[in-house]
Amino acid sequence: MSSRLKLGINIDHVATIRNARGGLHPDPLKAAIIAQNAGADNITAHLREDRRHISDIDIKNLIKKLKIPLNLEMAPTHEMLKIAINSKVKRVCLVPEKRKEITTEGGLNVLKNKKKISNIINKLQNHNIKVSVFVDPCIKQIAVCKELRTFSIELHTGEFCDNKKNKKEEFRQIKKSAEFAKKNNLECHAGHGLKYEDVKQIAKINEISELNIGHFIIGEAVFVGLKKSILKMRKIIDNSRKKNFYLKSA
Ligand code: PXP
Repeated sequence: MSSRLKLGINIDHVATIRNARGGLHPDPLKAAIIAQNAGADNITAHLREDRRHISDIDIKNLIKKLKIPLNLEMAPTHEMLKIAINSKVKRVCLVPEKRKEITTEGGLNVLKNKKKISNIINKLQNHNIKVSVFVDPCIKQIAVCKELRTFSIELHTGEFCDNKKNKKEEFRQIKKSAEFAKKNNLECHAGHGLKYEDVKQIAKINEISELNIGHFIIGEAVFVGLKKSILKMRKIIDNSRKKNFYLKSA
């Protein structure tokens, strides 16, 4: 029998909504606790250089309050390295970052930036942090991760999810990459852009042990929860009116 596929929930976009108004609501920590209670295996959060969603305080709160591990996504920079070490986080996933991108646009090019990334990985591992690297489904990139002795890799599924014409080929690359990672004793995770339909196929790849999903789940939560939050608001308004009416007529 195949083993259970773990599910990590990325809560970045709860912070995106919060930051749109510059206040405290909705709190990503509250979302993370709901995810934990719903059976999530980890919480993923990307601390970006421009802090467009998750903030440094969010990271501190998540580490302090969660019972499940925080998977901290970060660019391989010295600023982030310092934050990761000081935060005492147990897991890090290295991702590429460009200031102007809307979302992470592809995997980290470990082949091209081997020396710099190796330096960051060693420093993280010296502090007992498990390191994963977000890579495209490409054997050459995974072979470098093996060489750099990362604990795991996370395969970028964005191309597979977005590509309408070449879906079969994208899937084949992901499967081949997962098999190669497993054969080389690297835990294989996957994520980016996954929706209900895509996940049906990706979950069939037994070599993948964890999926990290964010945007779609947070978006779906609007539809699953919108009616409930409107009805609650309606009830509060009506109760308040009623109380006012009794006060005035007393
Ligand atoms: N995994 C990694 C490495 C990511 O960078 C992201 C996006 O931040 C995700 C998973 C989740 O992607 P999505 O929000 O599209 O589900």
